[in-house]
Amino acid sequence: MKKTMLATATIILLGFSMNACAEANHQAMHEMMMQQNQMSAPQVERTSLHLPPAMKQHQLSNMRSHLEAVQSIIGLLTEDKYVEASAVAYSKLGATPEMLKMCNMFANEDFKKLGLAFHKSGDDLGDALKTGNLKQSLQALHTTMNYCVSCHATYRQ
Ligand code: HEC
Repeated sequence: MKKTMLATATIILLGFSMNACAEANHQAMHEMMMQQNQMSAPQVERTSLHLPPAMKQHQLSNMRSHLEAVQSIIGLLTEDKYVEASAVAYSKLGATPEMLKMCNMFANEDFKKLGLAFHKSGDDLGDALKTGNLKQSLQALHTTMNYCVSCHATYRQ
């Protein structure tokens, strides 16, 4: 008897918290959509690339390396190490043969184009950093990061 009551109570509680979660999710989604509208990017559903599992892992590890490159470039900029920062941009974000090969593996043509343009911007970033001009470098970094943001807003694995 006690057990049944306990089970019933648990089910009721679970029901409550699931409802609460659904409500919170709903609210979060709503806020996200409002934000996206304000940013004039009405993309609600992202396009799936339908990647096979092995490619998913490879892509994510590449992505983490892109993030690390940006972090490293910012750090080097604070130390006026433009030559080193430029080398990171070329080798980790630029259109290296390895990156081109990776981009060309995608079936989605628009995604591929975006990826190639992104890597081209990585080379431009390398060029900008080489000049040693902070404003020019930050502008180029901003352009490169626009690709990160717009691709993530449009596509998912
Ligand atoms: C051409 C498209 C594209 C560009 C450009 C791009 N990404 Fe990504 N990134 C993706 C996709 C697709 C995913 C998977 C997202 C998903 O499925 O939700 C991803 C995931 C990630 C992740 C998650 C990694 C993980 O382990 O979960 C990070 C971090 C990331 N990207 C960083 C970056 C950074 C930083 C840049 C720019 C310097 C960048 N990406 C540029 C497409 C892109």
